[in-house]
Amino acid sequence: MTKIEDVSIIEIPRVHDERGLLAVIEDTTIPFKIERVYYLYDVPSDAFRGGHAHKKLWQLIIPLSGSFDVHIKDGQNEQTINLNKPHKGLLIVSGIWREIDNFSSGCVCLVLASSVYNESDYIRDYNAFLAFKKS
Ligand code: TYD
Repeated sequence: MTKIEDVSIIEIPRVHDERGLLAVIEDTTIPFKIERVYYLYDVPSDAFRGGHAHKKLWQLIIPLSGSFDVHIKDGQNEQTINLNKPHKGLLIVSGIWREIDNFSSGCVCLVLASSVYNESDYIRDYNAFLAFKKS
């Protein structure tokens, strides 16, 4: 079963010159095949997102602009990570509970996902998540 130690920051390679920075994600940058991309924007600063885990899905969460906090739990341990650099993404493997809050004004949160949207992959109840981790 996955643990919060399996969650990691992935540094996205950048090309820097006097015109600015260019960050590149290729198939070798992340350990899954991207099947879906979505993004959150116009998020109220007091919004609470996530509040679920995935049975199989892996995600890379990137603060394209601004910052927010990601709280992760594996049923035993928990950690909060503030994402605030557009070249540092958080790789969340399957079986990890996540909650996202403390969105900065104008924040854009990009998510790369390992599969298309599938509601049956979600665990949205925390007690069901704890039971899933024990099973
Ligand atoms: P949800 O997963 O609850 O968002 P978050 O984790 O950011 O809080 O999704 C919100 C709604 O959007 C829910 O009705 C499902 C729908 N949705 C899609 O239709 N496709 C998607 O790819 C995603 C991520 C969500």
